[in-house]
Order: sequence, then structure tokens, then C-alpha cells
Amino acid sequence: MANAYFKGRIVPVDQAKISIQNNTFQYGTGVFEGIRAYWNNQRRQLYVFRLREHYVRMLRNCRVLTLTIGKDEKELCEITVELLRKNHPETDTYIRPIAYVDSEGLGPKFIGYPTGFAIYTIPLGDYIDVSSGIKVGFSSWRRINDNTIPARCKVTGGYVNSALAKTEALEHGYDEAIFLTTNGFISEGSAENIFLVRDGRLITPPLSDDILEGITRETVIELAREELGIETTERAIGRTELYIADEAFLCGTGAQVSPIVEVDKRPLGSGRIGPVSAKIQALYFDVVKGNRTKYLHWLTPVY
Ligand SMILES: Cc1ncc(COP(=O)(O)O)c(C=O)c1O
Repeated sequence: MANAYFKGRIVPVDQAKISIQNNTFQYGTGVFEGIRAYWNNQRRQLYVFRLREHYVRMLRNCRVLTLTIGKDEKELCEITVELLRKNHPETDTYIRPIAYVDSEGLGPKFIGYPTGFAIYTIPLGDYIDVSSGIKVGFSSWRRINDNTIPARCKVTGGYVNSALAKTEALEHGYDEAIFLTTNGFISEGSAENIFLVRDGRLITPPLSDDILEGITRETVIELAREELGIETTERAIGRTELYIADEAFLCGTGAQVSPIVEVDKRPLGSGRIGPVSAKIQALYFDVVKGNRTKYLHWLTPVY
């Protein structure tokens, strides 16, 4: 059986249990992360992608909610590697840390409650089919606003917004939903950031348009600039600009790089995976699997 980190110890996952009265279970008062580790079979090595950056983000997000894990990012990285060594996967793996209100206290608040912290790991292949391009539709649900539930913070309760949009998208026959902000600008997918390609340049919504500060987003911006000489503009994007883009793709730890081929039943660009998206996708997979020496500093080898 796989192990989890729970209440300061590594235990079999079936012993890592919280009460149905738990405050975060009731009110969505947690902060979580999603991290991927890639198995490189040739080297018999498991590489965790940008582990430190995920914990830096998590600790920042905890600050917004006033959750206090009581460990710094270095300690959290060490615990994660220890857990992975114990579980010893030899396959692509998803790592889910969560900080939560460790109390059965009634009432949604953070003050006066201790913070709990747990991690589990599961095997995970593609969260979205990345090979043939995806179909997306604009959601009738607007993105949660920074002044309601901060989208920046990967707050568990905020994912009701994602679940509503994703469900609606699947019901309409799409693979993913695209959110607009309350002001009507493109924000992000239900669990991904979005990039448009226009005239050979990348465009992505700014951090102020209620998006998660995506680590894959940052990675794509850097890889596009460094490896392809493509600059990214961060600016507000109207809905119809996606209809007329040459190419577009979603990106995130789960979705990796997922090119979009259709939006609201309209073919996007050529209706096939575009050349820039294909290049970025290939580059991304090369980097995360440890096949680009220049970017090995982004990877934490587990074994
Ligand atoms: C709402 C949302 N946007 C964007 C992303 C992408 O963020 P990252 O690249 O850090 O995984 C995620 C998480 O995967 C997400 O949940």
C-alpha cells in the first residue's frame, strides 16, 4: 500500500484520515498543490518538476489564508522526496500536498485553528489527451474574483468554480472550459492557464485577470523566449480574440501542454495542432523528462 505524509509522519495512506467534522472538509478552507514527477526509464530515475517553486507558491498562498504549515520550502521538499522514496514509484506520478484547518470547529474562519499538512502521491498519466488537440468552450460560469475567493491561491473551496465549469464543458461535448473574468476578459481553463499564438507571438492573460500564478505558464514563457526566440505579451484578452487566434493551448501541471483545435464549435486556426504549440509541447516534455541538460536544475531526482 502507498504511504502518505500525515500529522508529521509517513504512514500507510489508509491511516491518513480526517473526520467528517473537519473544518476544511466542511468549508473548503484549504490550500493545495499539484506537482508532477516524471519517470525516465532510460536513467531509471524519477524527476520531480519544479518542486521548490510549488512549495514557494504554496507557502505564499497559505499566507493569504493565514494558514501556517510551520515548515519552510526546503523542509517540505525533503519530506516529499522522502515520501516518494518510500512509495518508490517507477512511473509518472502526481504529488498532492494540502494544508488544511486541522479542527472540527464549527464555522468558517481561520483564526484560532491549527493548520494540518498532508501529502499523498498517485500514479498519473495524461490528465487531458495531449496528442490530438482539445475542444474547448467558454463557460457560462465566470472565474472567481480575487476579491471573492482568490484564484491565485489554489484554495480548495475555489475549485467548486472549476467543477461547475468543467462539468458544463463535458456536458456540452468539450474537453475543457474557458473562464471569462467578471469583467469579460479571458482568464484561464478550469485547471490550466491559456496561451494564444498570434502572428508568431504568444499572448497570455495577466496575473490580475484572476488566474492561478501557474508554474507551467512561467515555464512556457521562459522556454519560448530562450529556446524559440518567441516573446510573450501578458495583457487582457477579449473572448473573440480566441476565435481568431492562429493557435492556442492550455498548460498546467495536470494538462501539461494541451493544444486547442476548436473553440465554441469553431475550428481554431487550421483546426489542427499548430506549429508553435507543437514545438512548445515537445520542448516541455523533453524538459520535464530530463532530456535537456540546460534545464536539469528544474528537476529534483528522487533516487
Ligand atoms: C485554476 C488553475 N489554473 C492554472 C493551473 C496551472 O498551474 P500550474 O502550471 O502551476 O500547475 C492550475 C493547476 O494545475 C489550476 O488549478
